Amino acid sequence: MLVAPVGMVVASGVVVAVLIGTISGAVEPLVLGDTGPVVRYGLVVNRVLHDLSAALAIGLLLVAAFLTPEARQTARRSTAAVAAAYCAGAWALTCVAGLVFTFSASSGLQLSDPGFWGELTRSAWDLEITRLILIELVMVALLCAFAAVARTRGQLAWAFTLAVATMWPVSFAGHGSSLVGHEQGMTGLLIHLIGVSLWVGGLLAIVILRPVLGTAMPVTLRRYSTIALACYVAVGGSGVLFALLQADDLGDLLSPYWLVLWLKVVALLVLGMFGYNQRRLLLERDTTRPGVFARLALTELGVMGAAVGLGVALSRTPPPVVEDITGGDPALPLTGFPTPEPFTMGKLLTAWEPMWLFLIPALLAVGLYLAAVRRLRRRGDAWPVGRTVLWVIGWAIFIYATCGAPGQYGKVMFSLHMVMHMALMMAVPIFLVPAAPVTLALRALKARTDKTLGPREVILAIVHSRWAAFFVNPLVAAVMFFGSLIAFYYTAWFEWSLSTHSGHVVMVVHFFLTGYTFVWALVGKDPGPPKWPAPLRLMVLIGTLAAHAFFGLALMSGTWLLAPTFFKTVDLPWVPDLLADQQLAGMIAWGIGELPTVVLAMMVTLDWLRSDERDATRHDRRADRDGDAELTAYNEQLAELARRGSDPRAR
Ligand code: HEM
Repeated sequence: MLVAPVGMVVASGVVVAVLIGTISGAVEPLVLGDTGPVVRYGLVVNRVLHDLSAALAIGLLLVAAFLTPEARQTARRSTAAVAAAYCAGAWALTCVAGLVFTFSASSGLQLSDPGFWGELTRSAWDLEITRLILIELVMVALLCAFAAVARTRGQLAWAFTLAVATMWPVSFAGHGSSLVGHEQGMTGLLIHLIGVSLWVGGLLAIVILRPVLGTAMPVTLRRYSTIALACYVAVGGSGVLFALLQADDLGDLLSPYWLVLWLKVVALLVLGMFGYNQRRLLLERDTTRPGVFARLALTELGVMGAAVGLGVALSRTPPPVVEDITGGDPALPLTGFPTPEPFTMGKLLTAWEPMWLFLIPALLAVGLYLAAVRRLRRRGDAWPVGRTVLWVIGWAIFIYATCGAPGQYGKVMFSLHMVMHMALMMAVPIFLVPAAPVTLALRALKARTDKTLGPREVILAIVHSRWAAFFVNPLVAAVMFFGSLIAFYYTAWFEWSLSTHSGHVVMVVHFFLTGYTFVWALVGKDPGPPKWPAPLRLMVLIGTLAAHAFFGLALMSGTWLLAPTFFKTVDLPWVPDLLADQQLAGMIAWGIGELPTVVLAMMVTLDWLRSDERDATRHDRRADRDGDAELTAYNEQLAELARRGSDPRAR
């Protein structure tokens, strides 16, 4: 049962990649010199094995951690985990081979060159493309070890998360990283690779695990089918997002690169029909009848393998659009974006530079929230409109801060960077937290009854985890909130975040989460760690407010430039005085920072008043129920004290 499906996918992938690659130029010698057929074809064949072993490792962990229930006497999860460890091992081997082939292709050195191995060990880390493979190799090696021992749902879920996270360095290595707007390319490839891995890897895993899945097959397939549908949309959409970068004019649409792309579009349509057919046939018929399922799945896997092969051929086919990112614009090699037009106040309303990695999740968050509210409404449950409005406003501010003027100009100007920072850390969470997304999700999502981790169970596990208890503790959240400001601006972290894509992404995610946990700790209504009494929360807030003001003042009065190399290299003609722009950032931090904090203080105070009211109501209800036994007891106590006081013998 193992050999046929894996053999089918690998064979169709390799054959298509080599055949199409030979036609499209993917295996042609590079400008640096011909490093020989072993390297040229090795790169393509190895990449197919790489993508498929990664997909299968992710697919097996998906099935084990989230899709299939475990019954007495079955070893479904451990079987899947062990198989995933083997796949991760294969994945690691393809990383090693990829490292050797990529270094040869990038350096122009042949494998047989006497100095090749010495040069490889000396400079593999210095070269960005081989450094990314080394980072991936370390993550995959960790995954291999972890999958070998992971047995509980929680452990398997963490192994799955690590496997998916490994797609991050992989997505940096595609054609996308060398282009203007490389953020769009890398985000497109990241979503593409994750979508393909869950989709292809999930189906392949179910086919391989069928003997151990047994009676759990129908439920596993039903759950996979929902994920497959989402992946179908994600793969198609992200492929188009990436492909759009590769068409400057209509002529490009007939280039070898695009001819491979058109084949991929056809592959996606064919797979769409398969998916629809499988969904209809499999969900209607008895899926345990081996013939039905095996025939459909094997054919579908064959087409999937071919599509992966096309993807690999495409990733090595010279693209029609080649842009010189060193063309004299100093910001381009650093930020991946061209220097924007001179800043004017009007730009605050008109500037737009989509950061897809932030735009897509923001739109998804709004879409899922509205879908959940609709589900509640449909079943006759109410949900406050105010919360929905807050949620939408919160994400609108998030999109403006990351893709509007603060996002675009914040990449090269300290002052606008601070507007983005303050919006992410303070303004956005103040709208999102009161929208109570966790409460809504728990009410809208169905609970699983077979001890598997569905979306609802994952959310519950996160909000009740020790991590949440630690980070949503008001004191820890406050230290993270203020400490991040100092750690970020007064260390190399700031320069790293300005001059690398990863740094920029880590910065945005960090600021957002730090702000969100801080506001959640103070005024969150969602289930989670127990709340501190309101007066204590208010004190934490006032302390943070003061520290924040101190930070703003320090920046305003600072006399030395932060991230000097970056700002001097970018050298914006319309920012003649960098220190003045930095001091303006200090003013913004202080100014923008204070307003949300005052709003937070009012929310905590309101919470305080309400909790007093609740206490009073609770007390009154109890008094009504027990004839105010507490007061009676108290009066009796007072009377007893009085009696003793008046009794000279008690003295
Ligand atoms: C509308 C359909 C699709 C479009 C427009 C599309 C587009 C793309 C693009 C532009 C790339 C990046 C190539 C580069 O680095 O220049 C890519 C890579 C890839 N695609 Fe697709 N794709 C589509 C469907 C699929 C399907 C259906 C699969 C498999 C089931 C697939 C698997 C892959 C893989 C595995 C890669 C990465 C290859 C690598 O670098 O390892 N794609 N695709």
